[in-house]
Amino acid sequence: MQVQVLTLFPDMFPGPLQSSIVGRAMAGGLLELGVVDIRDHAHDNYRSVDDYQFGGGAGMVMKPEPVFEATEAAMAKLGSDAPVVLTSPQGRRLDQGMVYELAQMPALVIICGHYQGVDERVAEHLATHVVSIGDYVLSGGELPAMVLVEALCRLLPGAVGSSNSVEGDSITTGLLQHPLYTRPSIYRDWSVPDVLLSGNHAEIERWRRRQSLLRTFRNRPDLLQSAPLQPSDVAFLHANGYVKE
Ligand SMILES: C[S@@+](CC[C@H](N)C(=O)[O-])C[C@H]1O[C@@H](n2cnc3c(N)ncnc32)[C@H](O)[C@@H]1O
Repeated sequence: MQVQVLTLFPDMFPGPLQSSIVGRAMAGGLLELGVVDIRDHAHDNYRSVDDYQFGGGAGMVMKPEPVFEATEAAMAKLGSDAPVVLTSPQGRRLDQGMVYELAQMPALVIICGHYQGVDERVAEHLATHVVSIGDYVLSGGELPAMVLVEALCRLLPGAVGSSNSVEGDSITTGLLQHPLYTRPSIYRDWSVPDVLLSGNHAEIERWRRRQSLLRTFRNRPDLLQSAPLQPSDVAFLHANGYVKE
């Protein structure tokens, strides 16, 4: 997958993306990350990329011309059908479904906003997706871009080894994952649940499924509305106080 990130702060990249799974995916050629300095597409000698907002008000707004032209230059490299993601707290909230959808694409452009945000014509006429990483406001779109790249990278075939398998992950399965334990079996008087040491795989699977259901019910009951549940799951949840809305 090829990703071009457009930013006013190219020095922030690759940053944390050079480590771990994303770093290996880049080294192995699974992921190609290009970083474009939006300022290189400014039109004046001052390399201006922002201006006062029409109508008055505090804060600067990123000008449309450098963003459009930087994006068009990126798309000339990637192909004109590459999706263009504008990062914004006003966007659709990023979830695993959107990550799956974008991971199918061979190429992607991500625009990082700054200041008060980006001239609205970018959202209206350039971006194919406006994406928020959650209901809080950051100063720039660089960390959201990194979050998106990291989430996408986990889904690239071959990026994640079996020691870090993605199939059983929380959300991916529709539920939260069961609790995980490793050695030692007793740490500071706290024991690992006996069933995990029993060697009885059917019992272990049953326990894991039930733990997964219980923690989803307690922490993220909203997920149960669309989770793929068996009749036995529903019966177990009902016995533990869950009532489907
Ligand atoms: C300070 S924010 C602008 C917020 C804008 N004034 C508003 O109220 O919607 C500056 C930039 O940070 C990025 N940003 C901030 N919070 C974000 C979030 N939750 N998800 C994605 N991008 C975010 C966007 O690129 C945004 O253009």
